Amino acid sequence: MPFHTMHAPNPPDTPDTDPLFPAHFQWGAATAAQQIEGAAREGGRGPSIWDAFCAEPGRIKDGSNVDVACDHYHRYAEDVRHMQWLGLGAYRFSFSWPRLQPEGRGAWNEAGFAFYDRLIDTLLAAGIQPHATLYHWDLPLALYAGIGGWRSRDSVALFADYAAEVARRFGDRLASIATHNEPWCTATLGHETGQFAPGHRSRAEAMQVSHHLLLSHGAAIQAMRVETAAPLGIVLNHTPPYPAEAVEADRRAARLADGLSTRWYMDPVFLGSYPADVLAHLGADAPQLQGGDLARIRQPLDFLGVNFYTRGFVSTRSPALPAPGVLGFNDMGWETYPDALTALLVRLSREYMPPPMYITENGMAHADALVQGRVADAPRIDYLRRHLHAVARAMALGAEVAGYFYWSLLDNFEWDSGYAKRFGLFHVDYANQQRTPKDSAHWYRDFIARQRQRARG
Ligand code: FCB
Repeated sequence: MPFHTMHAPNPPDTPDTDPLFPAHFQWGAATAAQQIEGAAREGGRGPSIWDAFCAEPGRIKDGSNVDVACDHYHRYAEDVRHMQWLGLGAYRFSFSWPRLQPEGRGAWNEAGFAFYDRLIDTLLAAGIQPHATLYHWDLPLALYAGIGGWRSRDSVALFADYAAEVARRFGDRLASIATHNEPWCTATLGHETGQFAPGHRSRAEAMQVSHHLLLSHGAAIQAMRVETAAPLGIVLNHTPPYPAEAVEADRRAARLADGLSTRWYMDPVFLGSYPADVLAHLGADAPQLQGGDLARIRQPLDFLGVNFYTRGFVSTRSPALPAPGVLGFNDMGWETYPDALTALLVRLSREYMPPPMYITENGMAHADALVQGRVADAPRIDYLRRHLHAVARAMALGAEVAGYFYWSLLDNFEWDSGYAKRFGLFHVDYANQQRTPKDSAHWYRDFIARQRQRARG
């Protein structure tokens, strides 16, 4: 079904009662290494492109860096206790490539492997399934300096080596391994708009990078299959673009915007081709392919990770029409529009017949304040509740969803926004690293407990 026919207003009447999820549904929260670990120069970790990006004046809005972040490297055991308190059955985290292989090739860093050993064992002892991602944007700086990072086709084989080593060491203890997190962000925000590290601005380069990322996904899946029986997949982000007005120009523009984001990644991974309309649009900016690339990208997968925060709004009018925003906008300026999640999940199911999906990220930033030991974040509770209903509606319409990971467990380093944007279920006071469960954490904890009760009863 073309996505623009699914444009429908949010029901104002999202019920107060809980949606019922299957007994085996996984309840989780997500983080990423670069955003929480800190210990940037400890335990043999090499620098990443984000360490370097933070040092460039003007790149990070609050001028902050990732040296300490949430100090999770030292506080992981406490953080697992917070997950246990929430009642999480699953936790999504990412491995820091420069912590495991400081140069991005060659020697492995045993102290880095030991850290993740401890983390994984602590999770398992707490009854929490570890779901890992190999690449959540922290490229070893040495690979950027040495070969140009993802611009070089050599990055593909190096990433596959790294993936194989992680699978060999940890595969038997991981509930899933995802290759990339949101390759669109690495390619487009990192190499076309310059908003993210390494901060380049070239569409041709971004598209070549996207191809190398996709190829490295396929190569990593192949390499990991040899090492492990763990479920393997990829995490893709979607901001479904909606036409601002019911006019052909806006529909066409929205269709192209969808092609440059969702279809550019979903098509090669699941159908083995790049979308023809997007290739035509890109012209000379289209990536260079070699024989066999597309077959290599399309590997059988065990799950698909879906990250969803908001919808996009495409207007060809000048000045562009703003989004209507019935349910409001959050601290990132992102509209709350849960119906787009229902429509997305149903559409992905029908058009791509993917393996079971996880909602690997969903959440909102709010200008939270810790007042007398409490963070009253009612808008986050509303967001969470509405999106859980949206997932349940998609499942009732046939989408197979196996779990939900709220982004994020903790307030953390929000990339170019620094520490100014708070997405966590737990508030982090960066002055003393104290974690405080927000009202939303209490709500999620109660919700998970009720789901468990209903599943038992
Ligand atoms: C996603 C990223 C994640 C986090 C959220 C808010 O794009 O995967 O690291 O920053 O956005």
